[in-house]
Amino acid sequence: MGIDKLKLAIFISGRGSNMRSIMKACEDENFPAKIELVLSNRPDAKGLDFAKKNNVPTEIVDHKRYNTRKDFEDEILKRLNKYDIDLIVLAGFMRILTPNFVEKYPDKIINIHPSLLPDYKGLNTHERAIEDGKKHAGCTVHFVVPDLDSGPIILQKRVPILENDTPDTLSKRVLEQEHIIYPKAIKLIANKII
Ligand code: GRF
Repeated sequence: MGIDKLKLAIFISGRGSNMRSIMKACEDENFPAKIELVLSNRPDAKGLDFAKKNNVPTEIVDHKRYNTRKDFEDEILKRLNKYDIDLIVLAGFMRILTPNFVEKYPDKIINIHPSLLPDYKGLNTHERAIEDGKKHAGCTVHFVVPDLDSGPIILQKRVPILENDTPDTLSKRVLEQEHIIYPKAIKLIANKII
């Protein structure tokens, strides 16, 4: 008998490298989660190709085709209803979810953010940290609440900012850590440690 796995929906908008790291973790039969669905708001998201190649069901809900955020999110809810999902994993999903959506999944949506929250919420995190002369950057996995990048923190990893770092070089090193902590955070939730 296999273990009872946490069923994930991963939301992406782009390249999907975090999605891939989670998919890789799920290849281990002892990993306590599995991916039921990858959903993208962008039809051209690179991560979709990878998901399809790996036989993971995909859904596209293109935000440009909806007049309001509510219509867009209602369509996402409709698609989610086709699956049995325990946890929504935002992995580079570039749409802000409204309180109406978030409150439907209390403690069931997580996100990864490329900074040591609560520092540097929002975009261009590495650029701002370098400009401010910070010694460290990092990444955070947190529960999603209606306020942007503000929910309870699950895991963080600190990454030193080197003297010649550019936003690009720094983001590469932080991304390596994102790929490690996101599967770990999912494991903590699946094992009910958090
Ligand atoms: C990551 O840096 C993540 O922290 C942020 O968006 C980026 C997504 O990258 N939320 P990828 O699509 O997972 O490669």
